[in-house]
Amino acid sequence: MARARRPFFCGNWKLHGSIAESLALATEVRNGVAALREVDVAVGPSFTALAAVAKRLEDGPVAVAAQDCFWEGKGAFTGEVSPAQIADAGCKYVIVGHSERRQLFGELDAAVNLKARAALGAGLLPIICVGETLAERDAGETIGRVQAQLDAALADLSDADLERIVIAYEPVWAIGTGRNATPAQAQEVHRFIRTRVGARAPGLAPRLRILYGGSVKPDNIQALMAEEDVDGGLVGGASLSAESFVRIVKEGSAA
Ligand code: PGA
Repeated sequence: MARARRPFFCGNWKLHGSIAESLALATEVRNGVAALREVDVAVGPSFTALAAVAKRLEDGPVAVAAQDCFWEGKGAFTGEVSPAQIADAGCKYVIVGHSERRQLFGELDAAVNLKARAALGAGLLPIICVGETLAERDAGETIGRVQAQLDAALADLSDADLERIVIAYEPVWAIGTGRNATPAQAQEVHRFIRTRVGARAPGLAPRLRILYGGSVKPDNIQALMAEEDVDGGLVGGASLSAESFVRIVKEGSAA
């Protein structure tokens, strides 16, 4: 059966890689997915490697994602990087609201909204991350937490803006732990996200791409992608090896 949405896989390299290492990994990924037609692929290097990697991947099938951005365009904001600078470096996407930003750097729901809006304003496509902690899941608060994050992140986005977003559901307890959500757990939350966005923008809901993230590996991606509302993956650890990331893209897009 044909998929309702084009699958999308994005690597999140987090704090890894020199420029040379990033170029080598990006080149291997590009070569590995070159023959695939029915899938979108992106890689997410560190800020220092973005421009070089984007240049290397120019005109090819693999896009580049930044891992974060600030919401202001310019000014006295030492250490921050604007969406326009990220676009200028050659990026198409930017990840916003990753749980590591929320947990380790105190990023609030309202900041995620500002970042998503600024990214859209600069022509970037934001990959907006939501997901509950283990304590929230155990307390039965998964849907409530995801709803709060989603509603806050999407506040004041126009219908045209909503057309350009990607959502990533990343349960915090599954990130980097080797313990992925079961396909059924992922599907339950993905379905909720699609329904929630559909209440705002009914026409968009069937086209919205919702990625799963959290210990995605070559051996679990097929089962996750078999779920109706799972449209791809945001891949951390397993994207640091071209071999495993390319397998995830191939097996995930064929599932
Ligand atoms: P992981 O990370 O694949 O290493 O669990 C996913 C993410 O943080 O995006």
